[in-house]
Amino acid sequence: MKLAIASDHAGYDLKKEVLAYLQTAEVSFVDFGCGPGESVDYVDYGAEAVRRVVSGEFDRAILFCGTGLGMAVVANKFPGIIATPCWDEFTATVSRTHNNSNCLSLGGRVLTSDLAIRIVKIWLEKDFEGGRHERRVNKILALEKELCKLK
Ligand code: RB5
Repeated sequence: MKLAIASDHAGYDLKKEVLAYLQTAEVSFVDFGCGPGESVDYVDYGAEAVRRVVSGEFDRAILFCGTGLGMAVVANKFPGIIATPCWDEFTATVSRTHNNSNCLSLGGRVLTSDLAIRIVKIWLEKDFEGGRHERRVNKILALEKELCKLK
C-alpha cells in the first residue's frame, strides 16, 4: 500500500501526527506538502496528491484540511476517486466496507490526533464488502463517465 499525502496549513499539525503513526506502522507514503508555516490553498495540494492516485503511481490518498470537507470536494472531482471525510470509527469503517473509499479526508480543526489515528488505522485495514455495495459504487462510476461525456 503506497499512500499519497497532502494538507493545507489547517491540516498540517494533524498530518504530522498521522505521518508519525504511519512511520511506526511501516506504511509507505509520500507527503506532497504543504510544509510548516505556509498559508496555502487546499485545492492545489489535494489535487497534487490525488493526481498520483489517478495515474496509478499511488494506491490511495489521505488529505488534511481544516474540516476535511474542502479536500474531499477537490478529490471527488477526479475520475475514479471516492473521497470520504470521516469523523469517527463508524464512518471510517463504512467508508471502506460500503463506499470503497480510496481517499480519506480528515479535519485538523475537528479531530484529535488520537481519533484521527484510529480512523486511519480502520480505513487502512477494512476491505470493501462488494455485493450490493459494489452495484451502488459502480453506478456512481458510470454516472461519472456519463457526465464527463456531456461536458
Ligand atoms: C482553511 O482556512 C480552511 O478553509 C480549509 O482548511 C478547509 O477547512 C476547507 O474545507
